[in-house]
Amino acid sequence: MNNLKNLRGTIDLIPDQLTKWQNVERIIKQELLRASIKEIRTPIIEMTELFVRGIGEGTDVVNKEMYTFIDRGERSCTLRPEGTASVVRAIINDNNLKSSPHKLWYMGPMFRYERPQAGRQRQFHQLGVEFIGYESSNSDVKIISLAWDILQKLGISKLNLEINSLGDRKDRKTFQSSFLKWLEKNYDYLDQDSQSRIYKNPLRIMDTKNIKTQKLLENAPKLNDFLSEKSIKRYNMIKKELQGLKIPFIENLKLVRGLDYYSHTAFEITSGALGSQATVCGGGRYDELFEQMGGERTPSIGFAIGLERLILIAGEELDKGRGTDIYIINKGEFAESLALSLSRKLSNFDLVTELDLSGASFSKQFKKANKFKAKSVVVIGDEEALKKEFTIRLFNNIEENKNELTLSIEDNVRLEEWIYNNLQSNISN
Ligand code: HAM
Repeated sequence: MNNLKNLRGTIDLIPDQLTKWQNVERIIKQELLRASIKEIRTPIIEMTELFVRGIGEGTDVVNKEMYTFIDRGERSCTLRPEGTASVVRAIINDNNLKSSPHKLWYMGPMFRYERPQAGRQRQFHQLGVEFIGYESSNSDVKIISLAWDILQKLGISKLNLEINSLGDRKDRKTFQSSFLKWLEKNYDYLDQDSQSRIYKNPLRIMDTKNIKTQKLLENAPKLNDFLSEKSIKRYNMIKKELQGLKIPFIENLKLVRGLDYYSHTAFEITSGALGSQATVCGGGRYDELFEQMGGERTPSIGFAIGLERLILIAGEELDKGRGTDIYIINKGEFAESLALSLSRKLSNFDLVTELDLSGASFSKQFKKANKFKAKSVVVIGDEEALKKEFTIRLFNNIEENKNELTLSIEDNVRLEEWIYNNLQSNISN
């Protein structure tokens, strides 16, 4: 029989790789806590209609990329391709959340049936942040600066922030009718993909990757020429504040993003170190989404960072895990039993302990402690165990037998003192 394989576009993350993930997640969570942003967890499976209505029927995500199936109750279900629609649904449904504003974050797996490549998977992970019920232009600035600062905190440099304004619904409607006329006139010159988008999602044609269509579009009506005074003023205020905060940005008039719910601000952060899947963060304002989903008007803005892409570019120092503080070496039946009680006792301290349960020779266990780069070792033989004693010492001072102490298992005070004197200052935070 063939070995069972994981599904294409999904991967196992093994312990060595997860050290970096855990460090990245820890730093992110710290930043979110400091910014008073609260966690929300929504199901990874939802009714298909949520995404069709939320993300938009004309989008690639809904048209081509969703993992959709009929469940045993004949309901159409979808594995979430993103988190914003679910957060909006949760807020509309939950009476405790009805009175906005809310600052929320979520982290977890998302699913899109795309062609897998470096930085692109079918199961991937996002950190998302949503400011719900925030309308002021400075909430846009706060969201953008938060995304930027999180990436900086992770030691990621050479990032490009691109921003654009998509105006409000009215601005886009007037633009769309003029753009559509132009597209119909130039239909024969468009690439096939753009032709197929004309009536489904014309805005998306603006960020086509086809060079010929890009050239043609230079003569097309531009969305920014259709923005109202009010929308322009709003956008200018955001740019001014970003300059004030010294966050460098580029204006990209073609930036429309792949999901239908955006209005006014849209932004992306890309990294040159990522190759073709360069966008590490994408976000924007979605003032109309709540109404679209049956709720009350609730202006909101958010972003999501792709964690796989983030891990690829985060600093190498984040690969380092917390080392072993105490390695418990033991040989013999009584010794192993004492080692078990000691390891339970040590779990009350902020220490990383490794209890050797191999039953191997002392020398093999010492070698293992060395491989673990343990800061200290406890050694227990049957003879000591019968006296309910163990010896603890710093590992790098074995020869000099420095800082070595033989203690009774009951002697909590001297054990604590030894740990405090020898390990506490070594423990990384
Ligand atoms: P998005 O641009 O579709 O936005 O995705 C955000 C990020 O998720 C991307 O920039 C990328 O880093 C990562 N990503 C997307 N697809 C994949 C994939 N197949 N493999 C690996 N990484 C991927 C959203 O999802 C919006 N919900 C963001 C948002 C929140 N807007 C407002 N609030």
